[in-house]
Amino acid sequence: MILSIESSCDDSSISITEIATKRLIYHKKISQELEHSKYGGVVPELASRLHAIALPAILEECKPWFDQLKAIAVTNEPGLAVTLIEGVVMAKSLSIALNIPVLPINHLKGHIYSLFIGTEAQFPLTVLLVSGGHTQLIEVASHNKMTTIATTMDDSYGESFDKVAKMMGLGYPGGPLIEKLAHSGDASRFAFTVPLWQSPLIAFSYSGLKNQVRLAVEANDAADYPDIACSFQKTATDHLIQKLKKYFKSHKPQRFAIVGGASANLYLRTEIEKLLVGYNASLLLAPLEFCSDNAAMIGRCAVEEFLSGNFINHNEIVVNPRCKL
Ligand code: KG4
Ligand code: ZN
Repeated sequence: MILSIESSCDDSSISITEIATKRLIYHKKISQELEHSKYGGVVPELASRLHAIALPAILEECKPWFDQLKAIAVTNEPGLAVTLIEGVVMAKSLSIALNIPVLPINHLKGHIYSLFIGTEAQFPLTVLLVSGGHTQLIEVASHNKMTTIATTMDDSYGESFDKVAKMMGLGYPGGPLIEKLAHSGDASRFAFTVPLWQSPLIAFSYSGLKNQVRLAVEANDAADYPDIACSFQKTATDHLIQKLKKYFKSHKPQRFAIVGGASANLYLRTEIEKLLVGYNASLLLAPLEFCSDNAAMIGRCAVEEFLSGNFINHNEIVVNPRCKL
């Protein structure tokens, strides 16, 4: 079995995965959303201190499996430096105490494996990763060949929801709050411009849209927020759809997946489903509980790393906060 640790942002999570069956044996996650809510976003220093309390508490529950562990996996990139280090230090300590190797895991690769918890991976696959830290289009040929096709030039899709929620004083994380507010709104009320709609680039950008929304929030009052939320959600999603259409002109999709915390957004899911009908392509989605950060996806990815023999010694692991795929 592999014990896996995730602490790249504001979720403290540990899982145990059986190598032979790829089955998830144990999984627990303690989210810090409430603690960060009053600041309208994640405060890294606070997140780090909360991980230092939550991770050892979860680890206590894993002791019955310690003698069956073959490796310790840990998210070491990308993420917040001060929170990644909490998981990495725990992985190093366990590696020394149990005399087993470490498997460093890329968090973005982990999100892709949220699709395959307990099952075999199906590649090739075109993946849209939408989270708080990333908005990326990725071609996955195999476990070792993942190519980033497009990325955001500034804010991410999830982050833009967080920022709009903050402007409205709704709290954090903003994604579910804005989605809920949008249910009672009218998407046609505010005509926000779709980012980069005239640009031939296959890339994403959310800072301009964020500023359009800021002006609308300032010029209106709370009774208009559902319409602003609904118009914003539509424009933010239209942007993804437009760029996907552009990409699909030269790369017809066969199997497509949406992963990351913001892949829980039902409006986004529906719009992508509609888009894929035209290509006769199938859509893969992770179970809702594994869309946002969790150690189960890290453990599933770790099985592949284990089978590829990508172990390292505890003193070789480094934290790469800004690393890409
Ligand atoms: O994957 P994740 O847990 O953390 C990162 O790796 O960043 O994603 C968290 C992000 C947050 O920005 C949150 O607001 C967004 O996912 N999110 C959503 C929804 N649920 C979570 N965004 C839009 N709609 C949602 N329903
Ligand atoms: Zn994530």
